[in-house]
Amino acid sequence: MNLLRGIKRCGKMTYIISRQRSTVAASARPLTDNGKFDRPSIVTNEIPGPKTRALLERAAVVHNTGAINFFCDYEKSKGNYLVDADGNVLLDCYQQISSMPLGYNYPGFLDIYKDESSLVSVVNRAALGNFPPVNFTKDLETLLTVAPKGLTNVVTLACGSCSNENAYKALFMWYQRRQRGEEPLGSDQNIESCMMNKPPGSPNLSILSFSGAFHGRTLGCLSTTHSKWIHKIDIPAFDWPIADFPQLKYPLEEFKRENDAEEARCLAQVEELIERWRTKSPVAGLIIEPIQAEGGDRHASDDYFRKLRNIATKYDIGFICDEVQTGMAISGRFWAHDYWNLDKSPDIVTFAKKMITGGFFFSDEIKWKEGYRIFNTWMSDPSKFPILEHTLDVVKSEDLAARAAGVGEHLLSGLKDFERRYDFLSAARGRGTFCAIDAVDTNTRDSVVKTALSNGLLIGGCGEKTIRFRPSLIFSIQEADMALGILDDVMQKIAP
Ligand SMILES: Cc1ncc(COP(=O)(O)O)c(C=O)c1O
Repeated sequence: MNLLRGIKRCGKMTYIISRQRSTVAASARPLTDNGKFDRPSIVTNEIPGPKTRALLERAAVVHNTGAINFFCDYEKSKGNYLVDADGNVLLDCYQQISSMPLGYNYPGFLDIYKDESSLVSVVNRAALGNFPPVNFTKDLETLLTVAPKGLTNVVTLACGSCSNENAYKALFMWYQRRQRGEEPLGSDQNIESCMMNKPPGSPNLSILSFSGAFHGRTLGCLSTTHSKWIHKIDIPAFDWPIADFPQLKYPLEEFKRENDAEEARCLAQVEELIERWRTKSPVAGLIIEPIQAEGGDRHASDDYFRKLRNIATKYDIGFICDEVQTGMAISGRFWAHDYWNLDKSPDIVTFAKKMITGGFFFSDEIKWKEGYRIFNTWMSDPSKFPILEHTLDVVKSEDLAARAAGVGEHLLSGLKDFERRYDFLSAARGRGTFCAIDAVDTNTRDSVVKTALSNGLLIGGCGEKTIRFRPSLIFSIQEADMALGILDDVMQKIAP
């Protein structure tokens, strides 16, 4: 690898920029200007700075502030640069926990609300399930332009957790419909028993999930979330089956034999659990992330997912693919499960975050007839649909999936270089710009993330010791180089 080194000055901070000669062609160019920002700048001695600390103190009187990193100035933020309350300018490779597809204040997006019909949707928030605006069908059709193959229906919801929560319900309804056959849905026995949370109206069914998974924090989802105990403790949970997610070695291709064996073991366990739960609480379906994100950016092979899909088909149970974090082009394909080349699509694909709205796509088989079964007052925020429409236009016309693939390849090669040079780093991995590298332990990871922040780079942590990148889809090769340069400096400081 060819490393060209240079020194850049930025405010009080000096950092080394490592530039790798790129094999990536057109995707290298910045897609938009970042306003007046072309590098981070740190103006306080530490982050959080004094303004954030004062705001935190005030908020703490009435609010739990335990998870707040710092307050932000979204008016001043632009492109891939996030400005905090103290005026620090950060190169943002985390993008609101992976939920900003085009960075901050994308050109023209503020003008969207100068158009009265868009503004009307802000002022008059529709209860979408009952009183949708006249353009709602068009918005659904827009969403369906990016529907995974074979999934011709969509429901919109407010967030990732409610998308999964309602996907579980849809799956249970589908499962029971087939059990019930000709029997009416609202038989006296079903009505009486469901009102008392008892079978047969409230059946004993389960969703199979995987160790390390994250599917949200609402009550049903939480029973399928297994990434961190702090999310779960004190909260009652369903006793549902949990299969091991393959614990693989990276790079996947290099350890193919061991990884294949581990995946085979895990797949056999899935079948065994489906069998074992048959009498206790039959498995109506399973849910899986294409890359376990919150659980530590854990990957499995495309072959594993194909075989898992086949197991669901074999046992006639549903297959939910949770693309809340992996969806919308960041993986280098619009949906990360597009890599799998499935014979049969997932039955349900859930989305949120960069998709601007939550919701799920589903097959005709899953479709239910009755109103109010999957329902809530807002069912998404229709004032966001113009943003969704424009975002999808940009993602398609600029082929941002290909861009994420190219920039991601460049970012990953930089992380692999770190892995070779720093003993305390390992397992560089990624698809598109959905990239990660492991530190030796939690403390070292936390220290990398914190030191990077004080040097103007915002990255995230996940799992026990993983450093993760979730840049926007307009992240450029130049910005990837800048991020790598800052990190290189950070690693040198941290190296024992
Ligand atoms: C894979 C996955 N599913 C579901 C969720 C929950 O989404 P939300 O936080 O919008 O409820 C997340 C959030 O991080 C996620 O990463």
